[in-house]
Amino acid sequence: MSNTTNCRVCNGTVGEFFDFGRQPLSDAFVEPGADPAQEFFYRLAVGVCGSCAMVQLMEEVPRDRMFHEAYPYHSSGSAVMRAHFEELAKRLLTTELAREDPFVVELGCNDGVMLKALADAGVRHLGVEPSGGVADVAALKGVRVRKSFFEEQTAREILAEDGPADVIYAANTLCHIPYMGSILAGVKALLHPGGVFVFEDPYLGDIIARTSFDQIYDEHFFFFSASSVRAMAAAHGLELVDVERLPVHGGEVRYTLAHAGARTPSDAVAALVAEERAAAIDDPATLRAFGERVLRIRTDLVALLRRLREEGSVVVGYGATAKSATVTNFCGIDTDLVAYVCDSTPAKIGRLTPGAHLPVREPAAFAAPYPDYALLFAWNHADEIMAKEQAFRDAGGRWIRYVPDVHVV
Ligand code: SAH
Ligand code: TYD
Ligand code: ZN
Repeated sequence: MSNTTNCRVCNGTVGEFFDFGRQPLSDAFVEPGADPAQEFFYRLAVGVCGSCAMVQLMEEVPRDRMFHEAYPYHSSGSAVMRAHFEELAKRLLTTELAREDPFVVELGCNDGVMLKALADAGVRHLGVEPSGGVADVAALKGVRVRKSFFEEQTAREILAEDGPADVIYAANTLCHIPYMGSILAGVKALLHPGGVFVFEDPYLGDIIARTSFDQIYDEHFFFFSASSVRAMAAAHGLELVDVERLPVHGGEVRYTLAHAGARTPSDAVAALVAEERAAAIDDPATLRAFGERVLRIRTDLVALLRRLREEGSVVVGYGATAKSATVTNFCGIDTDLVAYVCDSTPAKIGRLTPGAHLPVREPAAFAAPYPDYALLFAWNHADEIMAKEQAFRDAGGRWIRYVPDVHVV
């Protein structure tokens, strides 16, 4: 491990374990005919901190390049995710929010998929969302939104205006934020003495176990584990008091933090830390072995796609995910191998995928006519999509998967 940088959590030394090379911004869909020289690239590489074991990117992309007015990702695009967030809202209402005039703050509320349910229940709330387009969608649903990046200063302003938060929540957002010191100082200041900071993000243990290397891209700066989160919380006067594994997005953990000493940690915390230790998930040797499997997946996937092209089969992509930017650009997948990608997001349709420049087409294009094979980029939504597209299977179509290895189903 020759390349090093300083840890964004503890300032220790981060040693690189895998380099994906030059990559485009994962959510920067390109207008056809745009000047290719304008496309922004950065070096995507990932390392582990020798002091606190936090796995993180080696280079940071400026936040305004990723999160802005035209940020295309809409959380409500998946029925399973809508149900997931509504269920959490329901649970919070009967637990942490079952008190006098509770107040909830959500970081990265996106289109309001979670807060809408709490707003409907009359709960005092605030979403903090820097991406203006999706924030507007949330506001139209009756969600109270502040269009800004959450950081320490924002937290202090919210505290002055609204008072302390009983629940601070963040889904698939905390791992997007490199300036963790400012975030946790803000959380510490804003959180009610008896409150909780709950966040859920892709879990390092699942990424290693499934070789889901496409979870690694510009927006995913940190890859959390119970061990690294526990250390990170402790450094900021907070304590990891609960963990819950979640099946969504290919395997996540929901972490609950409280002020240090305010709550007794559940047995689940010690159990998951022990499991991580047994699997040595943050050991440099484990991470290098992960890298070897990533190279293997690239070799196998490219070989399969080339063989299918030679046979004359038509392959299209399904789901123009941010994750797929890593797959297509790291594997060198162009329109010769994958003709286009179908996706339901209005802001992506009619554009080209970042870097690889595969055309994005509307979902109806999938059946007109069906391709021979569909490369499932949105594999984290496999059950939902494969059920919805049963007619493709019935017509003889086959799905190509590449997590945990390359296979056809
Ligand atoms: N919570 C949603 C959205 C996840 S996408 C879900 O789980 O589906 C990540 C979101 O975080 C984006 O909408 C992005 O604009 C937002 N974000 C990025 N940095 C942020 C920050 N510092 N504070 C608050 N939100 C942020
Ligand atoms: P997702 O995997 O949730 O996130 P990320 O972009 O962070 O990798 O993205 C899912 C994408 O797939 C999104 O662009 C919407 C699209 N999609 C469909 O086109 N059809 C579907 O049925 C579902 C569930 C998603
Ligand atoms: Zn560290």
